Amino acid sequence: MSTDANALSVTGLRAGYDASDVLTGIDLHVGAKERVGLFGPNGHGKTTLLNAISHVIWPRAGEIRFLGETLQGLSPQKIVERGLIHVAQANWLFPDMEIGETLELAAYTRHARGVLKDNLAYVMQLFPRLAERRRQQCKTLSGGERQMLSIGVGLMCAPRMLMLDEPTLGLSPKLKDELAEAIAEISARGIPLLLVEQDIVFTLSLVERMYLVDHGEVTREIHRGSEVDHQDIMDMYFGAEKTR
Ligand SMILES: Nc1ncnc2c1ncn2[C@@H]1O[C@H](COP(=O)(O)OP(=O)(O)O)[C@@H](O)[C@H]1O
Ligand SMILES: [Mg+2]
Repeated sequence: MSTDANALSVTGLRAGYDASDVLTGIDLHVGAKERVGLFGPNGHGKTTLLNAISHVIWPRAGEIRFLGETLQGLSPQKIVERGLIHVAQANWLFPDMEIGETLELAAYTRHARGVLKDNLAYVMQLFPRLAERRRQQCKTLSGGERQMLSIGVGLMCAPRMLMLDEPTLGLSPKLKDELAEAIAEISARGIPLLLVEQDIVFTLSLVERMYLVDHGEVTREIHRGSEVDHQDIMDMYFGAEKTR
């Protein structure tokens, strides 16, 4: 047993594609039951970071601990079995499969199968739009409903922590609010969250703390309620645009 009270802790994480590193040494943590944001311009490594944590890509250095235990050497599937669930950006769904079937199929680990009925009821209650469309094929869903289904799929895996990659990307303000309510409700159940978002005001409305990711590094940490230095953030954005 470990005395590490964090749900997730990442130290010195390096990862990338081919010859180059995208992440050059990331340190962050998410406390038990905590909601933490990851914010930063496009292309600066937020998705790469979630991919490295869930071993969709293999970390090159550093350590990732989940609920006090190292994830070193574990396959992505084993990480899902541990309960660390990554809901990917623009999650891929089977277009011809029904919504209800998709959700049931997601509960594939032994533990998730054991709590399938309860989790399915929870997802349907959380997202009534999915309950109404349960017998429809995934390809009939709107963008917002697809995001709900992706989170629903994550919940069906019986998460002990969720990592969500830009769940509100491209949604209308109304749907964004609906999704934010659902995310807050999931977190109120005690599930720690790591949430990638592009909208700083929206992110700070949902999380207690947020890391700024800039060129593959965590450059700042902002706490809810603390003064946000907008100029700093604007510089980060427009400075980054110029170098592309
Ligand atoms: N599959 C990939 N192969 C090679 N390079 C990639 C791949 N995915 C992302 N990258 C590069 O890694 C960098 C970080 O991308 P990403 O993690 O997707 O950023 P973000 O999620 O912050 O927008 C970018 O320069 C991007 O072009
Ligand atoms: Mg991304």
